[in-house]
Amino acid sequence: MFLSSRHEPAHEVSSPLKARSQGRRLSILSLLRWWRAPLWLLALGTGAKSFADNPIIGSERLNRRGLHVARLKAAHHMAWARRRRLAAAVPAEWREQFNRDGYVEVRDYLPAEVFARLQGALLNGRFEGRHQQQGDAVTRRVAIGPRLLRTIPELGALLRDPKLRSLTAYVASTRSEPLYYVQSIVSGHAQGGLDPQRELHADTFHPSLKAWLFLTDVTDDEGPLTYVPGSHRLTPERLAWEQQRSVSIHDSDGLSQRGSFRIAPEELTTLGLPQPKRFAVPANTLVLIDTCGFHARGSTTRPTIRAEIWGYVRRTPFLPWTGLDPLSWEPIAIRRTTWLGDMLDRLHRAGLTKHYWASAGRKRPIDP
Ligand SMILES: [Fe+2]
Repeated sequence: MFLSSRHEPAHEVSSPLKARSQGRRLSILSLLRWWRAPLWLLALGTGAKSFADNPIIGSERLNRRGLHVARLKAAHHMAWARRRRLAAAVPAEWREQFNRDGYVEVRDYLPAEVFARLQGALLNGRFEGRHQQQGDAVTRRVAIGPRLLRTIPELGALLRDPKLRSLTAYVASTRSEPLYYVQSIVSGHAQGGLDPQRELHADTFHPSLKAWLFLTDVTDDEGPLTYVPGSHRLTPERLAWEQQRSVSIHDSDGLSQRGSFRIAPEELTTLGLPQPKRFAVPANTLVLIDTCGFHARGSTTRPTIRAEIWGYVRRTPFLPWTGLDPLSWEPIAIRRTTWLGDMLDRLHRAGLTKHYWASAGRKRPIDP
């Protein structure tokens, strides 16, 4: 009897007495979870973004009073203040493009012969990587660590180049070093539903960076990166939309509830925004975006594989300074991607967390 009742679904309650005791148990459990309240409160001063996991961030009552929008405004205000201090090192043409559009696109970024050597070494080499599947798309990443930097000198020269570093710092609004990978996007080769990256979304509420140096040409039917120009700016329309989303978030999809708000293309016009730009670009194009702007992986009509050097920075947004990041000290910075993968493996084996990036074995970046 007890055994069978334990397996009953929560909504199948056989008597009012049982319903009352179950209700009491649930309210005790929900009270007990509030021992974490100080942590949830402290998280407001960080980049924590999940409405589903933090009841303070997800509180409809507090968001009605402007909590989400206040965090958003403060984060953007501080990011632009940091960018003003980082601006002098960035060519005016790139800075103006970023300030206007939320992205920087530079074609023929590396001299042709340097790019050819880099491209040849990366696309023909076999590297130990990790992969993750979302929908019908598989993302594979090879951590760029000391060994790869030693074997391919053009790679180290690219990532140490002050021109690239000052540009990534400006877009990221911090001098924290990006985490870099050789990334392959393998679309339509695996069975699966809709790739969630195909939905227009903002990664998080605060400015942060993602960067690509494409190693292969990306045509318009190969699922190119898309970005809504100008969507990185906090306009009154965007603020009103954010406010409205923050109070109705619990009716939204899971990724929006975790703080990556999805937006329908039809909604863009009400925010005074254009339709997304599609980055169908030749190899050797550098693209950097602020991921609080709306972006997605574009549609594709056939199985495709593209390869790129990919980096990202997402630092706690409420810091007044642009540097002071011990993890950006070079001996640590170049090992972080490798360490991160190994550490998550150990935590996964110990049952403390779930590591979604499984070993992909040794492959060339353009292998399916
Ligand atoms: Fe994204």
